[in-house]
Amino acid sequence: MHIQFDSNLRLFSISTENSSYVFGLNDRGILQHLYWGAPVLAADCVSLMGSRSHSSFDAALDREAEEYAFWGGLSYMEPALKVRWHDGVRDLRLIYDGYRIEEAGNKETLTITLKDETYPIEARLIYTVVPGLDLIERSAVIVNTGSEDIVLESSQSAAWTMPTLENYRLTHVTGKWAGEFQLRETVLSEGKKVLESRRGFTDAHANPWFAIDNGRATEEAGEVWFGALAWSGNWKIVAEKTAFDLVRVTGGINDFDSEWTLASGESFETPVFVGGYAAGGFGSMSRMLHQYQYEVVAPGRDLRKVLYNSWEATYFDVNVQDQTALAERAARLGVELFVIDDGWFGQRNHDRAGLGDWTVNPEKFPSGLGELIDRVRGLGMEFGIWVEPEAVNPDSDLYRQHPDWVYHFPTRSRTELRNQLVLNISMPEVKRYIIGFMSDLLERHDISFVKWDMNRTITEPGMLNHPLNRQKELWVRHVQSLYEIWSELREKFPHVAFETCAGGGSRIDFGMLRYADQAWPSDNTDAYDRLSIQEGFSYVYAPKQMTCWVTEEISGMNKRVTSIPYRFHSAMTGTLGIGANLNHWSEEQLAEAAALVAQYKTVRPLVQEGRQYRLSKLKHKGLEAVQYVGIGKSGEEESVLFAFLHSQKLGDRLPRLLLQGLDPDERYIIEGIEGTYSGRALMRVGVELPLRGDFDSLMYHIRKQP
Ligand code: GLA
Repeated sequence: MHIQFDSNLRLFSISTENSSYVFGLNDRGILQHLYWGAPVLAADCVSLMGSRSHSSFDAALDREAEEYAFWGGLSYMEPALKVRWHDGVRDLRLIYDGYRIEEAGNKETLTITLKDETYPIEARLIYTVVPGLDLIERSAVIVNTGSEDIVLESSQSAAWTMPTLENYRLTHVTGKWAGEFQLRETVLSEGKKVLESRRGFTDAHANPWFAIDNGRATEEAGEVWFGALAWSGNWKIVAEKTAFDLVRVTGGINDFDSEWTLASGESFETPVFVGGYAAGGFGSMSRMLHQYQYEVVAPGRDLRKVLYNSWEATYFDVNVQDQTALAERAARLGVELFVIDDGWFGQRNHDRAGLGDWTVNPEKFPSGLGELIDRVRGLGMEFGIWVEPEAVNPDSDLYRQHPDWVYHFPTRSRTELRNQLVLNISMPEVKRYIIGFMSDLLERHDISFVKWDMNRTITEPGMLNHPLNRQKELWVRHVQSLYEIWSELREKFPHVAFETCAGGGSRIDFGMLRYADQAWPSDNTDAYDRLSIQEGFSYVYAPKQMTCWVTEEISGMNKRVTSIPYRFHSAMTGTLGIGANLNHWSEEQLAEAAALVAQYKTVRPLVQEGRQYRLSKLKHKGLEAVQYVGIGKSGEEESVLFAFLHSQKLGDRLPRLLLQGLDPDERYIIEGIEGTYSGRALMRVGVELPLRGDFDSLMYHIRKQP
């Protein structure tokens, strides 16, 4: 049993392989958090329980450590639940009502029920233990058990209370278009640090994930407490430190401009906020989260295919001849999936028109898409296509017919972004339109991959189809409808893989990744810039889900010049793709690329399903390195190392790089290097890296000696 309740001590304890999580019911009936960290006996935590006060002004300090803070009485921390009753009263007093432990498959779930003293509401706190991983999934279900409406002003998924540390370092990511997933750290002082999105999707400016340590954890060692939220719309994670040195991280759907009305008998389920404890530094945290994706979020997904995407090669100028020529070259490289991007439909010759008109453009494809698809299939590749179903250009037939289908306020102008507006996908007719044209596209064509884009934040959040007093439900309804659409399409077309994209990496989170097989982290395809984007991505999300393209020698983004191997190695650390204009590549370049694609395929299971180790010790020398260990094609554990040297000063020797994750007692061979080496030697004495000059890179495939 992973979950237990000690009725004498009134303690709940959740144990995973390497962690304990303990909370109890104190003498005031408050569900008080007590402990989270390395394994302990629940009974040892009993002395931590009890109501505390400091002065009459700080009279309910135990409420600072509440498992699920309700806003009412003496509670001034970030609330997890804040409600407005039908009579205008805004005060909640949740008291413990009972618990239930259930087992389903290999999962164990604890549900605790809280009820208000007098008003008819139930808050169910749900804790699911993820077997084998030191993770707990938390969420809440709020139920209206009365006859009058209840307005939820804030209903968060969970609050994670931290243990006492001498310092609270918060690690998170920030970013922007073409510069997503940049790692940041800050030491929390008293007050709040808020990470959030208010833009309608997950957002490049922040990502719903946090990690806290005492300031000394490294990649390889130290304790890290972390969490990630499965929500693809407006979200909020608040890291709050009180004057009494208590740190709590509360997260869920952003309560900004948000309300949800629960009618009699209705319930509202928050997204899952998964939390974890890692004893082995940030590396072990990431490996846990990657495993969580492979086993729980999106189990049973195939290895991702090597894809070609023609966006950077042809932009909107797609036509059957050019795409066929690109496909022929892509096939020669060993590409397995050929994807056409924007521009194949309606009057979409630029980003000012056509979005919303999902019929094949007859000038570009006179015989329909079938001609190109047949050719692609004939070349032995699968076919994929780009869509952006949630948005519309005002210059489109769809908008001319249905100007009211977009979010807007009738008295205000409609702000355009990339010349487009967002469809109100909560309207049944809009949902039907999207599912209709997508089904048509996927039924009538042999398509096995969809890149689903969303190049627009939400503004003027008005829904014509919705009651005036419930307009603030838009942010949640958009995401719910999106999930419903994706889930229906996935069910109808199980053979089709989906990629989540939003102007680059603006919609990547555990909510979306339940439906998406892979994600586009950034429109920035510069091989060096990508290293830091991909590193930040890898803190939370798995390499298999990270689509990376090899593009031109001179980056279209920043004019940096890098070699073919460097660009490939950078893209080979995730799901490999190619986005260059292969029609301009010489025979030598194509041959070099084909050899690298073949190499990728030999290490693909390691990269896409193995354990990832970020080797960060030589960063100060300008060296980025990442290693994967997993079951290779041989059926044995193998490893692959990718190393990237940014630049080197004359005479500045690169120290040896220490590998990780190998069996110390095994002997290994490294392709391209003479001799055999023990795992111990590779991890303690390291490997020499023959990297020189600027933007140099290498890949070492490491196998056990036969
Ligand atoms: C977004 C995507 C790109 C590409 C374009 C097409 O910017 O991130 O990869 O698909 O849209 O318009």
